[in-house]
Amino acid sequence: MAQEDVFKKIVSHCKEYGFVFPSSDIYDGLAAVYDYGQNGVELKNNIKEYWWKSMVLLHENIVGIDSAIFMHPTIWKASGHVDAFNDPLIDNRDSKKRYRADNLIEDQIAKYEEKIEKEVAKARKRFGDSFDEAKFRETNSRVLEHQQKRDALHERYTAAMQGPDLEALKQIILDEGIVDPISGTKNWTDVRQFNLMFSTEMGSLSDATNKIYLRPETAQGIFVNYLNVQKTGRMKLPFGIAQIGKAFRNEIVARQFIFRMREFEQMEMQFFVKPGTEMEWFGKWKELRMKWHQALGFGAENYRFHDHEKLAHYANAATDIEFRMPFGFKEVEGIHSRTDFDLSQHEKFSGRSIKYFDPETNESYTPYDIETSIGVDRMFLSIMCHSYEEEQLEGGETRVVLRLPAALAPVKCAVMPLVKKDGLPEKAREVVNELKFHFNTHYEEKDSIGKRYRRQDAIGTPYCVTVDHDTLKDNKVTLRFRDTMAQERVDISALLDIIEDKVSIASLLKKLQA
Ligand code: GAP
Repeated sequence: MAQEDVFKKIVSHCKEYGFVFPSSDIYDGLAAVYDYGQNGVELKNNIKEYWWKSMVLLHENIVGIDSAIFMHPTIWKASGHVDAFNDPLIDNRDSKKRYRADNLIEDQIAKYEEKIEKEVAKARKRFGDSFDEAKFRETNSRVLEHQQKRDALHERYTAAMQGPDLEALKQIILDEGIVDPISGTKNWTDVRQFNLMFSTEMGSLSDATNKIYLRPETAQGIFVNYLNVQKTGRMKLPFGIAQIGKAFRNEIVARQFIFRMREFEQMEMQFFVKPGTEMEWFGKWKELRMKWHQALGFGAENYRFHDHEKLAHYANAATDIEFRMPFGFKEVEGIHSRTDFDLSQHEKFSGRSIKYFDPETNESYTPYDIETSIGVDRMFLSIMCHSYEEEQLEGGETRVVLRLPAALAPVKCAVMPLVKKDGLPEKAREVVNELKFHFNTHYEEKDSIGKRYRRQDAIGTPYCVTVDHDTLKDNKVTLRFRDTMAQERVDISALLDIIEDKVSIASLLKKLQA
């Protein structure tokens, strides 16, 4: 099945099984805004718990905060977001549609890539086993031509994005003959900058002085609380402050479901260090964060670092952790060495001294910062994409199974009476009442047992427990495992021990300490 079709299936699965709904669904939705349903919210909470505990439980020198979404408007001037948090936009006069100029050019670069891959695929088919792909790529004239066009475009594009040079971006669009996918025309306006922050007014007066912004990142809430936390917590460098919260960006091109949203959630940690030690910590956090991702067991081959060549003016190192989504490797997390930029800016704009007194050297200085920043929703999407499987069973049947890491699954155990009579429901409820204090346990009695198993497979429940007539005599139940569909007869009193450790967040956290 084409990856595009797989992705469509995942999106509809999310809706059908109560993971993610379009926001305001009965009003036909609100673009790039989504709601999490009864299963989605459990999965999301588990992701957040895994991250939070990995930061504040496993590190003695990391504490958490929860800062407000509304912040003093000068914060966004200091951080650079008022002046520079922009996307370059272009309109097509015929379709009246608005596009990100950088996306149009990136799509064009991708077209050259596709052309190269098509040539290679054709040749592979033609030459069969004797095909030398590396040589073909180096020597085939059509491949070389596409490569040369791709590289030239990439170079022009990278240069135009520095600044950025809006006229140069438009010229590239014209020179490449890029057409609007809807109208098919090249009737483009000039490229303009568009600020991504949402604004509103605070209080009863609607003049400019009351204009405030919805935060576009949670990080600034940490920077402006640096002094409060350092002093009240008597924190010594190096130390970190973690936060999970909503962020808002007026994304113009909202694509790929919950990959790019207008309201989303971030999990950010700022780690403050002594200047000069930041590269060492940057390397350490790269390693720790990759380990956090890989502990989920999705396979190391599905992750990669994408180190930034061109750095933002405040950063001296930056990398993304990318995950293989059905639409290619995509950024899930950013790790940035942000120097002392943010704290220095807030010192300048607030007029307050934000220095650290180092008792070891008797010096005062502005700490440097390593940031780890991950989107909850992107993490959610990567987990759904990797876990979704249409499994072919013996006898030609298929089942949809979500192979979620057990610790993240919304429901850990479903308890089912074989039939709705003969005292089996009562016995099943007894089992639920024992397990529900330890992990999310559901009672299920509707439909045939086979259908109930399938429903649980589809939401990723790792364990199903069936109560039958023998249970009333021997206190044993059938324990069914989601991944293998194997079944085992076990004593009711053994269930907690078998299941609890495997579904706990602690089981994931222990892998990080290994
Ligand atoms: N404080 C740094 C910062 O915000 P970013 O690269 O703009 O850096 C960090 O965002 C992470 O937030 C991204 O790696 C991504 O996972 C998530 N993110 C950013 N924009 C998003 C959007 N529009 N929708 C969903 N997630 C987003």
